[in-house]
Amino acid sequence: KKLAVFVSGGGSNFRSMHEATLRGSVHGDVVVLVTDKPGCGGAQYARDNGVPIILYPKTKLSSEGFSPTELVDTLKEFGVDYLLLAGYLKLIPVELVQAYPKSILNIHPALLPAFGGKGFYGLKVHKAVVASGARYSGPTIHFVDEHYDTGRILAQRVVPVLADDTAEQLAGRVLHEEHNLYVEVVQALCEERIVWREDGVPLIRSRE
Ligand code: GRF
Repeated sequence: KKLAVFVSGGGSNFRSMHEATLRGSVHGDVVVLVTDKPGCGGAQYARDNGVPIILYPKTKLSSEGFSPTELVDTLKEFGVDYLLLAGYLKLIPVELVQAYPKSILNIHPALLPAFGGKGFYGLKVHKAVVASGARYSGPTIHFVDEHYDTGRILAQRVVPVLADDTAEQLAGRVLHEEHNLYVEVVQALCEERIVWREDGVPLIRSRE
């Protein structure tokens, strides 16, 4: 399967996914990186590793960057099967959601539907979790619709919140589990082990 990864930041999930494809833990290839921040760590990793980069959306300062339809057309030209958001902060255009039904995933660093939505990103999420007194957090992987963090939940993993946790410490432990969970889920996706329950809930079948 051909994968496109979307990043705006450091790109540690992108890196772990790319490495998993290279060692064969994920039966797919990252064929293109999409970013709104060409200077971010994820884009640098792409340049260093020969992964082509698409700039989306257009930046305010330059005319570079794609429109939603150009993005869809280009991803189709690359033959992309699945889109993986990994710390990509811009909203996904409806054109893309429609062009790739049931094929776009996002990873969020808390247990949705709590601590999600616009404005809940990065360390803010973990600060809110710690401040709430919640005893558990952990990554959620969900399908992407045209809103922030509201698509169908596909997988979650529980990470305990410790009594003296700082947001930074919690973020580090959750991020570690994000890397593991995203690779496992994308491997299931590439092996076509996702099934949809009648009520629209996606499930992961274990290997026969
Ligand atoms: C992760 O915590 C992810 O859950 C969130 O953004 C962060 C991206 O981290 N959506 P990285 O760029 O993959 O290191």
